[in-house]
Amino acid sequence: MSFAKKILCIGAGYVGGPTMAVIAAKCPQYKVTVVDVNPARIAAWNSDALPIYEPGLFDVVKQARGRNLFFSTDIDAAIDEAEIIFVSVNTPTKSFGEGAGKAADLQYWERTARNIVKVSKGDKIIIEKSTLPVRTAEAMSSILNANEKGIHFEVLSNPEFLAEGTAIADLNNPDRVLIGSQLTPEGIKAREQVVEIYANWVPRERIVTSNVWSAELSKLVANAFLAQRISSINSISELCEKTEADVTEVSRTIGMDSRIGSRFLVSSVGFGGSCFKKDILNLVYICRSYGLTEVADYWESVVEMNEHQKRRFVKNMLKAMFNTVAGKRIALFGFAFKADTGDTRESPAIDVAVQLGKEQAKVVISDPKALDNARIDLADCVDNVEFVKDPYEAAKGAHAIAVMTEWNIYKELDYGKIYAGMERPAFIFDGRNVLNHKALFEMGFNVFPLGQPALKHLKTV
Ligand code: NAD
Ligand code: UGA
Repeated sequence: MSFAKKILCIGAGYVGGPTMAVIAAKCPQYKVTVVDVNPARIAAWNSDALPIYEPGLFDVVKQARGRNLFFSTDIDAAIDEAEIIFVSVNTPTKSFGEGAGKAADLQYWERTARNIVKVSKGDKIIIEKSTLPVRTAEAMSSILNANEKGIHFEVLSNPEFLAEGTAIADLNNPDRVLIGSQLTPEGIKAREQVVEIYANWVPRERIVTSNVWSAELSKLVANAFLAQRISSINSISELCEKTEADVTEVSRTIGMDSRIGSRFLVSSVGFGGSCFKKDILNLVYICRSYGLTEVADYWESVVEMNEHQKRRFVKNMLKAMFNTVAGKRIALFGFAFKADTGDTRESPAIDVAVQLGKEQAKVVISDPKALDNARIDLADCVDNVEFVKDPYEAAKGAHAIAVMTEWNIYKELDYGKIYAGMERPAFIFDGRNVLNHKALFEMGFNVFPLGQPALKHLKTV
């Protein structure tokens, strides 16, 4: 069968897999191939047990897989055949050398670019799907176009804005699609080809084009602004706890101002996920490298506030539980960084579990989808830890429950039954403010919400 376009995505992760599955489902006229260096990941994409949990993903994959969507480890053959290549490999924070702990580690990207040069026999459009530092396209274009075969590679930036847990809905109905290019005739021609792909289902007015540097920078800034809102409301949660104001009421009130808007104002134990911290630290690093100290400090404080929020959550637990949790069983309800995903990258639950472990608590982790990842995350850093899927079992004999992830199941549990099986006094620390605090208090729990007055039966805490 002949296809109107042959599209390749290098990197079959949380972005590459779902994004390409949606393009393939929406555009049966295109052949979409997704490759990865990890054969286990590709095998999972070709099976009924997909490598990531994402609501609605399996239906989309099933619709297109084998028809015009293919997952493969034959990277070279796929590069050779493709006209348009999205690169969606990981871009973690650099852990070594210059910029360690802040700069983006671009080794996976550069390796991919060099391989594209080696294998290609004709001109191609190369699209940055990964989140990259501003002006990366310049370096990539230099590497790609330094070939002696006379092949031209046009580098575009098409950053992804999907959020995990809602990836399919976000891809089906994006607020915007951003495509940045050089403003040369070749750049604009290449950009039009990518616009054409998305125009199969995204209204034209939501497909935004820009210069390539603005596209790269807009992605980092979008994440920084989202994270900044969470740190802002989390900073206010601490003040609320001192003043008997209620952060949910403050959040609701300020969010009704249409200039502020209501989203991303939910106070929490801290933001997690693979990108917010990494992307802000990258922004900070870029600002410092241009000598913009005040700008860098400003954005760095967003991450510092998040670290503070995680630390103070555990400090509050300690204080409430008579300044010691040593030997006490503490059940963490949820380990994923947010609901509806099994992803635990940078989950605040990791820090909370590690801190409780250092205090010699017996930590019990419960989560409907993230226990495999939790086992890996905590393998070398917490000794006294159990992994129990059933929340009732996890809470049996516990002194305290701490809600880490806002999974719906935690809202629906029979807390009377849970209370009956717990040690006394029983504590609940609601790191997501999702439970019915008054009802829990009436059952006998000492309830510590975030940014709201605690409901305590004990006079001493
Ligand atoms: P991921 O770690 O889930 O997936 C990356 C994949 O790339 C891995 O499967 C890895 O094996 C593969 N890979 C690495 N080097 C390779 C190579 N040389 N050849 C072939 N495959 C290679 O990462 P992710 O969460 O999908 O993120 C990818 C990029 O997208 C990052 O830059 C991230 O910042 C950005 N992003 C992520 C999200 C998200 O929700 N996770 C959202 C928007 C943007
Ligand atoms: C985020 C962005 O929302 C996406 O637009 C972006 O594409 C993606 O990062 C990325 O670049 O990786 P994601 O991390 O999947 O998506 O999930 P979010 O819904 O943004 O949540 C991030 C963290 O913030 C979670 O831990 C969540 O619980 C927390 N959060 C979110 C709050 O604490 N309060 C809120 O009001 C919203």
